[in-house]
Amino acid sequence: MSETNDVRRVAVLGAGTMGHGIAQVCAGIGCSVALYDIDEAAVRKGLERIRANLDKGVELGKVAADERDAVLERIVTTSSVADAVTGADLVVEAAPESFELKETIFGEADAGAPDHAILATNTSSLSIEKIARAVSDPARFIGLHFFNPVHIMKLVEVVWGPDTSDATRLAAVAFVRRLGKEPVVVKDSPGFASSRLGIVLGMEAIRMVEEGVAAPEDIDRAMELGYRHPMGPLKLTDLVGLDVRLGIAEYLHNTLASEAFRPPELLRRMVAAGKLGKKSGQGFYDWGGS
Ligand SMILES: NC(=O)c1ccc[n+]([C@@H]2O[C@H](COP(=O)([O-])OP(=O)(O)OC[C@H]3O[C@@H](n4cnc5c(N)ncnc54)[C@H](O)[C@@H]3O)[C@@H](O)[C@H]2O)c1
Repeated sequence: MSETNDVRRVAVLGAGTMGHGIAQVCAGIGCSVALYDIDEAAVRKGLERIRANLDKGVELGKVAADERDAVLERIVTTSSVADAVTGADLVVEAAPESFELKETIFGEADAGAPDHAILATNTSSLSIEKIARAVSDPARFIGLHFFNPVHIMKLVEVVWGPDTSDATRLAAVAFVRRLGKEPVVVKDSPGFASSRLGIVLGMEAIRMVEEGVAAPEDIDRAMELGYRHPMGPLKLTDLVGLDVRLGIAEYLHNTLASEAFRPPELLRRMVAAGKLGKKSGQGFYDWGGS
């Protein structure tokens, strides 16, 4: 087992919304990063997004120009999982949220990665215990749940399954701290800590709109001013996407069998009408769309 402070090489599998950001922050602390995606165009786009994030940092005076160049130099792209994981101390998978897909990727990654490598998934909802069955040594398997945008958000949920070893958990926590982020250690369970609480608040806020308790702006302001939330639950739902939140609520309602997660009819109606929040232009707020 590697001491995580020894993590020097990281393989990131999947270069989309999350993968490119994970590659960036790992390279940002001096690790060599191999970025892989099944779609070569996605790898190129991922690298462009990293460059754009760093350029923005330079523009804002938060990143020095030579630091940006050094971070970019530490990232290599590859079109094979085997290449990506060769010599890796840590593998982070950020492919789409499909159990079968992740199972296949980890089967391949496990075969090529060194015996000491920590194998981590960025899943936001799937069971860590179940995905870990795809690898030869589930003791080295863990969830590292980053938040979007990765280079800005401080939180990382470190999700341990029944087979995850203490050494892996401690190493993962140390690595997250090394990234300058805040680890929250959570036992593998539906919704982890963040979604489980966030969805209850979001669903209840929607029920309150449905019942005419208060206008969306006022419900949000109650949380922002009264509880010091940076953003109210309805605006957050608009930003995440009503369809995405409905999917998570349905999943938690089924798996945790609690009425607190039951999606309100209003949410279903809005999703059916294409009111998905910011991305569609209309949600609980008008975002200037059609
Ligand atoms: N987007 C978010 O806000 C967010 C937040 C936390 C966690 N997550 C989780 O992170 C993971 C990735 O989500 P995302 O939003 O980055 O998705 P995304 O669709 O933006 O990116 C996924 C990438 O994986 C690639 N891919 C598909 N099949 C692959 C394979 N077999 N091997 C390697 N790459 C493959 C795709 O080409 C794509 O570039 C999911 O498990 C998701 O639940 C997402």
